[in-house]
Amino acid sequence: MVIERSELRDRMVKILFDENEIQHRVEALARSIAADYVAGDAAKDQQGRPVLMICILRGALLFMSDLAQRIPMAVEYDTISVSSYASGTVPGAVQLVKDLERPIAGRDVLVVEDIIDTGYTIEYLRRALQARQPASVRVATLIDKVPRREIPVEINYVGFALDQDEFVVGYGMDYAELYRNLPFIGVLKPEYIRD
Ligand code: PRP
Repeated sequence: MVIERSELRDRMVKILFDENEIQHRVEALARSIAADYVAGDAAKDQQGRPVLMICILRGALLFMSDLAQRIPMAVEYDTISVSSYASGTVPGAVQLVKDLERPIAGRDVLVVEDIIDTGYTIEYLRRALQARQPASVRVATLIDKVPRREIPVEINYVGFALDQDEFVVGYGMDYAELYRNLPFIGVLKPEYIRD
């Protein structure tokens, strides 16, 4: 059964960020990131290679795509996938599902996330990437869900900081794999969340 996009939109109790707001914010982030690497001191690669953007699959796909297209400098990109262990195991434990295709030693790495919640995923990734001796690691996230943080993490670029613990979907973010392809970010009505 095909679900029409209008029906998905009707499942939102509210829209937090509409398409325009997101695109404007991504544009501003792209400029700010490029300024840091081009005119600031973020670039550390001794060989002057392009920044290597790393998309954290799958939630960050849409943000990554828009950000990469708007950044006014040459970049390369790669993807990596991690997942949290099932509940009942060590809290915050993270597992590598799909590794990068290429080495990052000596490179300037820009990790691109859709959302930082407890902080465990990005902490795991920072450590795992740092172990490969890149020249630098910076982190960009579209959403920073501040009230959910369980461990301190360093984030260099934030699209939107949320001050309430709301379950957000859209623009890459899912509930049970749905809603990722919506161009806006919204909050689901409780009746569409089963547990
Ligand atoms: C989400 C998000 C981050 C992580 C953040 O991924 O993309 O990677 O959770 O959570 P944390 O700060 O509590 O660790 P998710 O596991 O939902 O997978 P997905 O990207 O495939 O949707």
